[in-house]
Amino acid sequence: MAQGLDVPYFRPPAPEPRLEPHGLLGFLMAIRRNPLTTWTVRHFEERVLTGEGALGRMTVVNDPAIIRHILLDNVANYRKDDLQLRVLAPGLGRGLLTAEGDEWKLQRRTIAPLFTPRTVAGFFPAMVESANRLVQRWQRRSEGRVIDASLEMTRITLDVLERTIFTQGVSWDPDALGRAITRYFDGLGRIDPLDIFGMPAWIPRVGRWRARPAIRFFDEVVGELITSRKALLASGADAPRDLLTLLLEAADPETGRGLSDLEVRANIVTFIGAGHETTANALSWSLYLLSQDERARARIEHEVDEVLGDGAFAPEHVERLVYTRAVLEEAMRLYPPAPFLSRAAIADDRIGDLLIPGGSVVTIAPYVLHRHRTLWDEPDAFRPERFLPEERGRIDRFAYLPFGAGPRVCIGMSFAIQEAIVVLATIVRAVRLDLDPAHVVSPMHRITLRPEGGLPMRLSHRRGERAGSEAP
Ligand code: HEM
Repeated sequence: MAQGLDVPYFRPPAPEPRLEPHGLLGFLMAIRRNPLTTWTVRHFEERVLTGEGALGRMTVVNDPAIIRHILLDNVANYRKDDLQLRVLAPGLGRGLLTAEGDEWKLQRRTIAPLFTPRTVAGFFPAMVESANRLVQRWQRRSEGRVIDASLEMTRITLDVLERTIFTQGVSWDPDALGRAITRYFDGLGRIDPLDIFGMPAWIPRVGRWRARPAIRFFDEVVGELITSRKALLASGADAPRDLLTLLLEAADPETGRGLSDLEVRANIVTFIGAGHETTANALSWSLYLLSQDERARARIEHEVDEVLGDGAFAPEHVERLVYTRAVLEEAMRLYPPAPFLSRAAIADDRIGDLLIPGGSVVTIAPYVLHRHRTLWDEPDAFRPERFLPEERGRIDRFAYLPFGAGPRVCIGMSFAIQEAIVVLATIVRAVRLDLDPAHVVSPMHRITLRPEGGLPMRLSHRRGERAGSEAP
């Protein structure tokens, strides 16, 4: 289907699916370099694929009804698989993302009130403030200046988290914290062959070993923050109503039990780990896709100008930015920030003709699911309209999983959507970003799905301050 009479839809870059699966060595190398390159044509065409691979028996599921069964209807029979936990737990500890069983249930119950629509709406001013500061900094730069949009998006999502988790009281250099966080997650982000084969945790993994100083620094900072905030709360003084205070005051609605210091710390690290690069990638891909599609760019600029005008960004504007939201959702369809989910079956499970043996791994890969030939019209094309209210109803809830689904659905989903809409609309109102023509864009899966080698983009100003002196 064409966009207009003679303007085809933009088809953004993606690795060509393989005709045949890799052999063991090739698979191990590919999974370390970029797991996106391991998918085959059959994965994008078939609803269920079962095979014995390097990781044991694995079932790749692209059938929305079966996905619903695994993530929702029979969720008690599935747990997060060992590989996922081996990769994530050393960095995140036992926070909400990596906890299991009763421990998870208790944490989820206790933490859920921190992410209700009302609490998230309370973070709106911090998000607007962060976005405004970003564009003000850009507006002081000269026309045509090249920035790394991907790095800038990582910075802004980190800034939003710092403002909403800690609010204030940062006694250390914020840049040093930012660098430590980046190094921390960079070192942990690669899948190590030692993890694939289940080697004990005491055998050093190169990435993690390199990240050790950053881990120590980051742990110290978070520990110091918890101690000083607890002292403030104990003194009866007014404490900021940020996520740290909310975590320290949180109590299980059933038992009244609060979180231990270790759980508070693990969840702060988890919110940063699960919330910054994911949101940054959704934004980076949106900016990239808009830069390649004049029609979509004109439409989003028109919407943002009409809804926001020159005035202040108000909470009620978020709902009205429907095309902006559709662009973000389409960007997360084509480039899901979390491109791979997996579960291990506890006992045998039969779904129609399909048997999932106890102990085996089930993979649900949003990257594949979102481009599946049997589920989407023009699966590889950028077409935000499919997420507009008039078309959205045609998308099966279990065919589109940027935030997962079921009881373990992303707890930060409305936080992330609100933040991404605020940041994207603020950027679109102020500037245009065009890809540096010398740069080749390519998606890289490293826990999250990011543009490999960053996203060099040229700034031009739409409104607001113009370049006078160059900002740092
Ligand atoms: C665009 C941004 C985001 C995306 C695409 C995303 C994606 C996801 C996905 C797919 C899951 C489910 C994983 C699974 O089922 O295995 C998840 C879980 C989670 N996310 Fe997000 N996330 C985003 C932003 C955030 C933010 C901003 C936060 C916190 C501030 C956050 C915190 C979490 C936590 C704590 C979990 C674990 C929930 C549980 O297991 O109960 N995420 N996220």
